[in-house]
Amino acid sequence: MVLSLLSCVLLALYANAATAELTRPSPVTINLSSRKVTTGQSLRRRALPASNIPLKDFFSGTDLQWFGNISIGTPPQVLSVVFDTGSSSLEFASTQCGAACANQKQFDPTRSSTFRDGGRTSTITFGTGVGVDPVIGNNWQLQLRSATDVVSIGGLNAGSVSLFLITNQTPTFAPDPFDGIQGMSPRLTGFFAALAAQGLPSLFSMFLTPSNVGSAELTIGGIDTSKTTGGLTFASIESTSFWQLRSIQIFVNGQTSSTLQRSRNIIFDSGTSNIVLSQTDAQAIYSLISADIQPNPAEPGTFGIACNRIASLPAEISFVFTSQEGQPFNLTIPSSELSVGSFRSNPSLCQTLINADDDFTIIGGSLLKHYYSVWDIGGQRMGFAPNVFL
Ligand SMILES: *[C@@H]1O[C@H](CO)[C@@H](O)[C@H](O)[C@H]1NC(C)=O
Ligand SMILES: *[C@@H]1O[C@H](CO)[C@@H](O)[C@H](O)[C@H]1NC(C)=O
Ligand SMILES: *[C@@H]1O[C@H](CO)[C@@H](O)[C@H](O)[C@H]1NC(C)=O
Repeated sequence: MVLSLLSCVLLALYANAATAELTRPSPVTINLSSRKVTTGQSLRRRALPASNIPLKDFFSGTDLQWFGNISIGTPPQVLSVVFDTGSSSLEFASTQCGAACANQKQFDPTRSSTFRDGGRTSTITFGTGVGVDPVIGNNWQLQLRSATDVVSIGGLNAGSVSLFLITNQTPTFAPDPFDGIQGMSPRLTGFFAALAAQGLPSLFSMFLTPSNVGSAELTIGGIDTSKTTGGLTFASIESTSFWQLRSIQIFVNGQTSSTLQRSRNIIFDSGTSNIVLSQTDAQAIYSLISADIQPNPAEPGTFGIACNRIASLPAEISFVFTSQEGQPFNLTIPSSELSVGSFRSNPSLCQTLINADDDFTIIGGSLLKHYYSVWDIGGQRMGFAPNVFL
């Protein structure tokens, strides 16, 4: 069995060849005891206040990516990063990347007195790219070198944390208007672990508004209720590595089908622009929108329809999940998201929001921008509320 650990902007695929399973271990049950808070050190710690970080939107045909500033080193060098719930490490362009990162601001380790080289080199391969193009082979890849340095985000100083310098990247990353990626997976690592140790609640919230609305923001350590209307609905995540929820059903324009009534796990990824579903689910959804939405063989995994037809098509897609209280709730993508813009190879053909891939299932920006979302690492759950603008 070859195990591919998915971790994404971008779902990063660490293609680790795992050894074959030779013997099947039998299940064991171990007793667990709950950890009691002894007259808590954590309670005596000074709790850090939550911090709001403004985000900019990278728009091209559709909203592609939301990114904000992070400070690294002493004195601080400010770089912009995508806050990517599909991955778990911090990596950014460095002076060691040279011409391959010519469009990015490059961190200069020789100008930071607190920088420590880690000396380990690695490669990170992403399963979805920045934007809506399908991934082909290893065309989204970063070469990394390990290090530590001090990091602060929104005025919260995490101290020295482990991070990676980008030393080379595939040309697909070159046009990005941001300099790096801050992984925000449900594992408590990196700057978040450091801030949680200082008493910051281990959750963050995202207000990923479309470019025509603006004022997108990330709140670290809290929930900005001024951006929500109505209460939050929480659901427990199904994985300790991914923000993954089990969807029990999908509706398209109020209709469903036997395929869409099956349950499926879906990863919520702020670093992916559109929606990625299995071939079967993608076809089942499109067949309820229009028979004229067809795969575009020029870009395998994508679908499209003539641009002059797309605006009039109803395409409301609801994913049904189960709340922590056991109640079903819908997260709905409005018809306005159906088109993600025209194909470069054929400007009169418009790409539709779902790409097909049988390796993983992702909900990205097309849905996230219609909700206020809370990513609760401590509680291992996600919360959603209607947001104020939509
Ligand atoms: C685990 O708990 C059960 C029920 O309380 C008890 O019977 C059993 O002896 C425990 N096992 C161990 C290894 O402590
Ligand atoms: C990031 O910081 C730069 C100045 O260093 C500023 O021009 C830019 O607007 C900031 N971006 C965001 C999203 O706050
Ligand atoms: C979810 O949406 C479908 C289709 O619009 C609707 O029939 C269903 O009642 C909704 N479910 C909930 C729990 O709101």
